Amino acid sequence: MSEAVGQGWTVADMPWQIGRRALITGANSGIGYYAALELARKAPMCCWPPGTRRRARRRWHGCTPRFMRPARRWCLLDLASLGSVRACAEAELARGGPLDLLINNAGVYAPKKRQQTADGFELQFGTNVLGHFALTGLLLPALERAAASQLQRPRVVTLASIAHKRGS
Ligand SMILES: NC(=O)c1ccc[n+]([C@@H]2O[C@H](COP(=O)([O-])OP(=O)(O)OC[C@H]3O[C@@H](n4cnc5c(N)ncnc54)[C@H](OP(=O)(O)O)[C@@H]3O)[C@@H](O)[C@H]2O)c1
Repeated sequence: MSEAVGQGWTVADMPWQIGRRALITGANSGIGYYAALELARKAPMCCWPPGTRRRARRRWHGCTPRFMRPARRWCLLDLASLGSVRACAEAELARGGPLDLLINNAGVYAPKKRQQTADGFELQFGTNVLGHFALTGLLLPALERAAASQLQRPRVVTLASIAHKRGS
């Protein structure tokens, strides 16, 4: 992805997502919302050219019928609480299915006052870094299931900031 940045990549270049399951943190607003929207647009039920037969459609995208059903679920997740992270991951794992794409997007930016997570970590570090680190680790079995069952490899995307360049 880093090679694509600045080289004219747009959502139009995104490959079809049919048959893939994605989990996006903070998908209710901002970048997460638009990431969810664009991913969903790449996996619509009605994207097939008219007249394409069912079996041919399946072969086209190399996916099975159960993956053709668009399913959008919400999972309550507070990344500032490791208990909530664990509960969300357990609910996801209990589904038993593969997870093809995890987008660690949610985050807080520079709270004015020092605040802490439920577990006593500084809020921004605890939410953006530790919460997502725990979520990713807990979801590894679902990502591994995807690795075993899908044509495309599972992917974990973590959003950061160019602000890191100012650090040393
Ligand atoms: N926008 C930028 O210019 C920019 C620049 C550099 C980096 N980033 C990074 O890109 C990511 C998205 O940015 P954005 O501008 O789209 O952010 P945003 O509009 O502020 O949205 C942040 C999202 O994170 C969620 N969130 C905050 N605290 C949470 C918690 N404890 N548990 C679960 N979800 C939580 C929010 O949910 P609620 O709405 O429920 O609070 C919201 O959905 C962030 O990680 C940000 O640091 C953005």
